[in-house]
Amino acid sequence: MQATRGQNTPARVVAVQESLVTIQAGSEDGRRLALKKNEVVYIEPRRPGLEGRREKLKAEVLRVRGDLADAQVFEDTGGVAVGDPVAQSGEMLSVVLGPGLLGQVYDGLQNPLESIAIQYGTFLPRGAAMPALDFKKKWSFVPRVQTGARLRAGGLLGTVQEGRFTHKIMVPFDQQGEIEVTWIQEGSVTLDTPVVRVRDRHGREQSLDLTRRWPVRRPLADHMLRSSVSERLYPHELMTTTIRLVDTFFPVARGGTGCIPGPFGAGKTVLQHLLAKHSAVDIVIVVACGERAGEVVETITEFPQLSDPGTGGSLMDRTIIICNTSSMPVAAREASIYTGVTLGEYYRQMGFHVLLLADSTSRWAQAMRETSGRLEEIPGEEAFPAYLDSSIRSLYERAGLIRAVDGAEGSLTMIGSVSPAGGNFEEPVTQSTLGTVKCFLGLSYDRAYKRFYPAIDPLISWSRYLEQLAAWFSANVDPAWVEQVATMQALLEQGDAVQQMMQVTGEEGVTTEDYVTYQKSLFLDMVYLQQDAFDKVDASVSLERQRVAFARVYALVTRDYAFTDKAAVREYFTRLTGLFKNFNYAESESPEYRRLLQEIDALATDAP
Ligand SMILES: Nc1ncnc2c1ncn2[C@@H]1O[C@H](COP(=O)(O)OP(=O)(O)OP(=O)(O)O)[C@@H](O)[C@H]1O
Ligand SMILES: [Mg+2]
Repeated sequence: MQATRGQNTPARVVAVQESLVTIQAGSEDGRRLALKKNEVVYIEPRRPGLEGRREKLKAEVLRVRGDLADAQVFEDTGGVAVGDPVAQSGEMLSVVLGPGLLGQVYDGLQNPLESIAIQYGTFLPRGAAMPALDFKKKWSFVPRVQTGARLRAGGLLGTVQEGRFTHKIMVPFDQQGEIEVTWIQEGSVTLDTPVVRVRDRHGREQSLDLTRRWPVRRPLADHMLRSSVSERLYPHELMTTTIRLVDTFFPVARGGTGCIPGPFGAGKTVLQHLLAKHSAVDIVIVVACGERAGEVVETITEFPQLSDPGTGGSLMDRTIIICNTSSMPVAAREASIYTGVTLGEYYRQMGFHVLLLADSTSRWAQAMRETSGRLEEIPGEEAFPAYLDSSIRSLYERAGLIRAVDGAEGSLTMIGSVSPAGGNFEEPVTQSTLGTVKCFLGLSYDRAYKRFYPAIDPLISWSRYLEQLAAWFSANVDPAWVEQVATMQALLEQGDAVQQMMQVTGEEGVTTEDYVTYQKSLFLDMVYLQQDAFDKVDASVSLERQRVAFARVYALVTRDYAFTDKAAVREYFTRLTGLFKNFNYAESESPEYRRLLQEIDALATDAP
């Protein structure tokens, strides 16, 4: 297919292998239109689709080999044939950013699922795309600078009110050098109305509306960090989750990273939902790459009904859900996590604290594996691509705390669940993730089986943030906090050792002293580590209340007891546990709360 001057040949499909399509580059006026890695192209099957529309199947170029390129198609490729024309967009796979993102439920390519449901029923017909944002709705734009202002990438131009959030309209994030505002106008406008004109240092003028586009595979702050208009900071404060086991023992920092590996059914999704609901952040992005369609449907039907404990409004007001099921094409699943991260980075850039939850990143890694297999790349461990590790690393590296252009601090915290087959944490996705994140909340089958929820295993989990945030804990909770938590951690290990011994020798085989140690650690587990997600008080425990409860538990398990027989030990700790559980259920500072504390103290005073 040698093109000559004056002749235009579109790119064409030369081979189809499931979702992978090989394309020959097209030409214009005899010039070859080179295909670029990660460019979006549209395959146009020659037969029109079912509704008589000419289909445009979105695809992304994965690999360029001279004139040829391999592209993964984000849709079913049935009916695509050799010779079908391919339109080159010249653009990378991107998302639209602007007011109106909050509250949306998107698929991995930012198609809004609610609008799709209204227009097409539950599923988007092949080749159809919907605008990610409502371009009819009007927003009240308030300029924050005047004509003549000079700004750099990410600089604040104006704001619009998005629900209870002040949404910043910023200078494009990859703007080189300074721009000068040549015109800016207040008003009630649609997203695509120009509201400001800027001139760059070469004298080129550009109109800007309320939206921006960003290629999802590139970190949004890249250019701003490199040109020092934005700055990366060391995470230095706690992201309170109100889950005792997490906040006290395995804390997550704002701007930090964490993972939740766990066997099938151990409670990964429930824990992610608890984090989404109760974490002290402004905005939550949920990426549901569920295995089962049912799980994803649960997420999208459940969330809008949940109320935001912070404001009493709907949880959806501060949430964006990106969801994919295994019935969606692999490529769309692979892209969804990047779509989620990019949206998170966008709100972080405005100075918000954002939490991104991905459930489960194993599905994402499997999508990568499938695509890599089709590309016949050299496989690594368990047939995952050799670059699995670096992909996981560069994904989590997009989390972090930054100082935005106008001095505001914003954070993006990322917590991904991992679902290793058979609960075997030695597999590559879990291992690579563990090598990357700074907090590991490992769920155990044993604890889930015993209904010890949340089933985070305190003997295998860890968090680097306990040490990293030592200064924060000292200033905001208690100067002795980190040390006391370590003491409790040690008690759990001692208790486990005694329990293992008892499994062999029975209760008689251990000393009364060891038995007390075991009962102390069991008490700590029952009343502090375990938390009832279905009780309205216990479901979410403020850091202040954690401090009070922890101090009591600490005192009770670090004091000496002079029991002479095991039955008495057991009876004492059983009563203590009962009282403490009721205390956990009592409304803070209620008469019941105070009465139970007194009873606990009285029981302890009477103990030998
Ligand atoms: N914190 C909790 N409190 C009470 N019950 C829980 C809790 N966490 C999990 N469960 C129970 O365990 C079940 C399975 O939990 P979940 O769906 O979160 O597991 P999962 O690890 O996400 O499973 P999968 O591997 O299938 O995705 C829940 O339906 C619920 O009954
Ligand atoms: Mg799950």
